[in-house]
Amino acid sequence: MTASNKPELILTGPMMPLIEEQADELFLVHRLAKAKDRDALISEIAPRIRAIATAGHFPVNGALMEKLPKLEIVANFGVGYDSVDVKWAGAHGVVVTNTPDVLNEEVADTTLALILQTVRQLPQSERYLRAGKWLEKPFPLSPTLRDRTVGMVGMGRIGKAIARRLEAFGVPIVYHSRKPAAGVSYKHYPNLVAMARDVDVLVVIVPGGAATKNMINAEVLKALGPNGILINVARGSVVDEPALIEALQSKTILSAGLDVFAEEPRVPAELIEMDHVVLLPHVGSASHHTRRAMGQLLVDNLASWAKGGGPITPVPETPWPAKRK
Ligand code: NAP
Ligand code: 8YV
Repeated sequence: MTASNKPELILTGPMMPLIEEQADELFLVHRLAKAKDRDALISEIAPRIRAIATAGHFPVNGALMEKLPKLEIVANFGVGYDSVDVKWAGAHGVVVTNTPDVLNEEVADTTLALILQTVRQLPQSERYLRAGKWLEKPFPLSPTLRDRTVGMVGMGRIGKAIARRLEAFGVPIVYHSRKPAAGVSYKHYPNLVAMARDVDVLVVIVPGGAATKNMINAEVLKALGPNGILINVARGSVVDEPALIEALQSKTILSAGLDVFAEEPRVPAELIEMDHVVLLPHVGSASHHTRRAMGQLLVDNLASWAKGGGPITPVPETPWPAKRK
């Protein structure tokens, strides 16, 4: 393909070389991050753009998409696509793709690590050793996973991979979602507050977006109670962050392990100051192996669409075939 007949694509931000190199082979790529004036660049190329490749850091909203009359596909790096307005895309025949399944095991591994770190206070104990305090006296005893029931908030692809690992740890598992998950035998709670009351650990792994915004609120945290631990590997938007900070400060709950935050990469100073929480910089899927698989799936979606075969993993809100309206 020559530059002149390659479809034109917007890259909303810097991406891994595997994506950028293959995108350059398949498309005439316009890099928003390199533009001196992003709006001017968009206005200039708008009539020719047929594809966008994006990641969670950049909002692909209706205001942007409606400027691009030939836009047909938005390929999202990540299984969560809450930064893309899929309602607008679905209504206008733009297909959105994500990167499901290839990250399930990695994110589940990270979640188990975060649960154990938080419950057993392992990062705190390491800090203790490095500070030379072990020479003075042993690190204090910690809470345990042994006497806990885990309540999963979300029992989808990643939720099931987390639950499978938890089974090996011998802890009872229950879950909340809008409807019971097919083929899952754990107890289903249609009511989140009722589940929070019955468990000692809440593991949040639902999509972000309007339907789940602040679903972990003061009422849920109160129900979780003073022995309760919150683990969030979903999206920061799912947790009412000020309510969480208040619940941690007032000991309404015991602790929290967080991989995601409302205003990433900014993390509230109140959380950073607390020694009884474990904070990770959104590393759920962040291994070379898994990020490569996610990047390749993003490219494969674009390549398959460009060849006319249709995308591989369109999201349910934007089914294929689609007709641009
Ligand atoms: P999935 O397979 O679509 O599963 C989503 C689960 O959430 C389902 O059980 C679903 O059940 C439930 N759910 C959805 N909306 C809900 C609502 N309003 N109330 C209660 N439950 C709801 O998704 P997945 O592949 O497991 O991924 C889940 C999310 O994890 C992603 O969207 C992403 O935001 C996040 N994630 C984070 C990282 C990280 O690095 N920390 C990495 C990967 C993914 P119902 O539809 O029956 O309600
Ligand atoms: C990525 C994620 O860190 O897949 C997701 O939804 O949250 C993570 O795997 C993120 O999408 C990178 O932008």
